[in-house]
Amino acid sequence: MARELTSQPPAAPAEGGSPPDAAVAPAEAPARAREGSGSDAPPLAIEAPAAPSHVYPLGSRLTDAGRLEIGGCDVVELAREFGTPAYVYAEEHIRSRARVYLDAFSARTEHFEVVYASKAFPHPAVNRILAAEGLGCDVASGGELFMALRGGFAPERIYMHGNNKSEDELRDAIEQGVGHIVVDSFDELDRLERMAPGQPILLRVTPGIQPATHAYISTGQEDSKFGFGLDELPRAIERSGRLELRGLHAHIGSQIFDMEPYAKLAETLSAMSDFPLLNLGGGLAIAYTSDQQPPSIDQYVETLLEGAPDGVTVLCEPGRSLVGNAGVTVYTVGTVKDIPGLRTYVAVDGGMSDNPRPMLYGARYEADIADRMGGERLCSVAGKHCEAGDVLARDVMLDAPRPGDVLVIPATGAYGHAMASNYNALPRPPVVFCRDGDARLVTRRETYEDLALRDLV
Ligand code: LLP
Repeated sequence: MARELTSQPPAAPAEGGSPPDAAVAPAEAPARAREGSGSDAPPLAIEAPAAPSHVYPLGSRLTDAGRLEIGGCDVVELAREFGTPAYVYAEEHIRSRARVYLDAFSARTEHFEVVYASKAFPHPAVNRILAAEGLGCDVASGGELFMALRGGFAPERIYMHGNNKSEDELRDAIEQGVGHIVVDSFDELDRLERMAPGQPILLRVTPGIQPATHAYISTGQEDSKFGFGLDELPRAIERSGRLELRGLHAHIGSQIFDMEPYAKLAETLSAMSDFPLLNLGGGLAIAYTSDQQPPSIDQYVETLLEGAPDGVTVLCEPGRSLVGNAGVTVYTVGTVKDIPGLRTYVAVDGGMSDNPRPMLYGARYEADIADRMGGERLCSVAGKHCEAGDVLARDVMLDAPRPGDVLVIPATGAYGHAMASNYNALPRPPVVFCRDGDARLVTRRETYEDLALRDLV
């Protein structure tokens, strides 16, 4: 019988759980890796895991032969069918997380909206799933708006963000009937007033709250390019007279483990106004490595609602926590370089072009060989780009990796495909959605011809 992953990660430890920004902190060897790193360390007898950890998509499991299955599909066979690198998603994970959000709110209030922050994975296939589940959509550009509409979100359920929306983007949003534009600056107030008097808006606020996360994904502090500072807010409210100001918005950052800043945020914004809508942004952390235990969606929603006054419609904008653990990236090992006494570099057929997060934020990932999970060889998984820093996962334990192995990096479902590039002219990988043993290609692999498609010579 196959062994199935439980649907919820184990409860967070009562105290001193995950470090606040472990996913984005400069890489430090995980405990199990450190144990085997010294040349005089005793040999390790690590057994193959019985089931994939909670960093893998819900429903992931190991077959009796010890092969990884995602969405009921054998990952080694997916690699054979679709090639590598490939982004592989368990569709049901996305649905399930959306339902957990909706249930968490509806158990407590009738006045709420869950809005998918589509920047995490702006894809019509995921948009379609989340629109059908009843979520709204946050878009941060004309392109994301296009994808949201293509994915079937009703325009009135769309929230348009951006600290520098162009006139074209604003015009598109207005013409398409986007429900709310989240206004970010005085210049934008002028622009919008001129273009669409009476347009429903929210004002984006930087509330002076700084959660513990990587500086690049921290947005709530006063010194930020986004939104109106609390001191400016009264003037911005006054200046919104010719638009329909429906509420305030704030997003304090991303990959946040600590719920305290959210409680403070809800209270701070509620104290500033009594508008009907309060949008508290996104940012709930996910587990990138198995030692991380982020708060549950239920705890997060509870915190948001606790701080908000009764009768106000509370919105949140999750991105990563809907899709992050739903996806893995599947690679093939090409070369294995052993540096005796030091470490083994396992090079795969992708890298910083399909996942720039390790290089951008020092983000830590795990890795496994798809048909030999776990292992006792200390390795670093390197990409194939011409940069020494192109390392996808440092200090991971693998089972005797060799060329031809299918290697999986979990928790790449958010901001992976979304931030992929063509660096070194690598074609971007395909996206495969798996469900109940069926795999469907929702984005094909780029070809070399695609790379030259826009060139006019
Ligand atoms: N709402 C707004 C206005 C945002 O700017 C963001 C993320 C979200 C919601 C969703 O945050 P989430 O729930 O996904 O944490 N590229 C970075 C993340 C940048 C997030 C930008 N804004 C990364 O890979 O970690």
